[in-house]
Amino acid sequence: MPRLAVIGGSGFSSLPGLLALETIVIRSAYGLPSGPVIRGRLGDRELFFLARHGEDQRIPPHDVNYRANIDGLRQCGAEWVVGLGAVGGIGPQYGPGVLAVPDQLIDYTYGRAHTFFTAGTGGKEVNHIEFTEPYCEQLRQALLRSGAAAELPLIDGGTYGATQGPRLETAAEVRRLERDGCDLVGMTGMPEAALAREAGLCYACLAFVVNWAAGKGSGTSLLSEMRCHLDRCIQGVVSVLETLVRTHGD
Ligand code: HPA
Repeated sequence: MPRLAVIGGSGFSSLPGLLALETIVIRSAYGLPSGPVIRGRLGDRELFFLARHGEDQRIPPHDVNYRANIDGLRQCGAEWVVGLGAVGGIGPQYGPGVLAVPDQLIDYTYGRAHTFFTAGTGGKEVNHIEFTEPYCEQLRQALLRSGAAAELPLIDGGTYGATQGPRLETAAEVRRLERDGCDLVGMTGMPEAALAREAGLCYACLAFVVNWAAGKGSGTSLLSEMRCHLDRCIQGVVSVLETLVRTHGD
């Protein structure tokens, strides 16, 4: 299997079951990453882990240094990158507790350093990437096979709407996302996916639904709904990752 990295989102200040072997402090031309990269062992395989919101989970989605994170993982030699993401569900099949591997995205974020291709640091001659298919199909399929093998069927596909946050959406905003074709809404899917493509990494998102998006559920507090579903989702995500490393050996 290509060298795997996992970027943990909400709920993942560390990766349960990962035996840490080395803490790698990254020096990047793009500034400070969210924290050190942990090289560790999951089952009998090694992977890299980086907590997107920092080890203390204090970095909000709009303040994550996505460029330093992706650059750091590239420097470590990662080839496959799984971005874990807590999301709200919009489409009827995407209820709380569901795990999904989206195949499309729409970027509603703004003001984030979203490209390595700038005239200053790291500017390169080629400054366009193809992004018709924003996620790496090989890794998407590997995740889907792992979900099936772990008897945790993942939804294959869906459109991830990346919002700016850190506030949750209004009900009208969610209705607009729905009209745009979004099935899931989260705050960290971009620019991470595009930067990974720019860096030449094979990137896919493993999304876990922790709440119905604003206006879609029964009207109880979204924040308490999130807390309630997070633990179950974390267990599912860890099982998928354990199966991924076990079944996609070299
Ligand atoms: N909206 C945006 N981001 C999220 C949500 C949501 O409802 N749930 C988890 N992350």
